[in-house]
Amino acid sequence: MSARLVFGISGNVKRPSRTAALVSEVTHRLADCLGAGEHVIELVDAAPVLFRALTAAQLDEEGTALIRSLEAADVLVVGSPVYRASYSGALKHLFDLVGYDRLASKPVVLVATGGTPLHGLVPDHQLRPLFAFFRSLVLPTPLYAVETDFENHRVASPALEGRISRVIEEAGRLIEGVWHGEQESAASVAA
Ligand SMILES: Cc1cc2nc3c(=O)[nH]c(=O)nc-3n(C[C@H](O)[C@H](O)[C@H](O)COP(=O)(O)O)c2cc1C
Repeated sequence: MSARLVFGISGNVKRPSRTAALVSEVTHRLADCLGAGEHVIELVDAAPVLFRALTAAQLDEEGTALIRSLEAADVLVVGSPVYRASYSGALKHLFDLVGYDRLASKPVVLVATGGTPLHGLVPDHQLRPLFAFFRSLVLPTPLYAVETDFENHRVASPALEGRISRVIEEAGRLIEGVWHGEQESAASVAA
């Protein structure tokens, strides 16, 4: 079997980015935990490619390759800065270009960063419904961090470190369980 891939997507549209730092950290630690490969994209880089297309049919070769690699990943870590009490418009545009049935049953870890703790439910109230549409397997505990959790756009607060560890432990255990179940049912079909 080819190596599994954890694919991080950060909805930041500028650099440096706290969201990109958090998505990279979570992607790296989860890939390590699962023995998988890792890849992270930032919308600051991907948006100029994706925004050449307003519909999936208009995607050029580079845009198509980007969307296909996301669709083919085994796990997604999806993060966004909170903009106007939701995720960034750039992130929504990316997911408007993803096939409606391509993320079904795919494990997804949700991440957001904001300026205020008052918007801490953005992952659950804004991002989770998007992946409910895709019928993805959204992991139970999302991560939300505020600007004061970072220093020089890097994860700095012990409280956030602790939350990341809990999310990795939970996501790792649940995803391994799903993968184990898939292997068992493939083996029983082959027998
Ligand atoms: C246009 C804009 C809108 C924002 N709206 C909100 C908001 O509604 N709620 C919030 O908590 N923070 C808001 N923020 C703050 C960002 O979410 C916060 O600084 C975030 O960590 C930035 O992420 P980044 O470093 O990845 O760009 C906003 C920032 C910008 C630039």
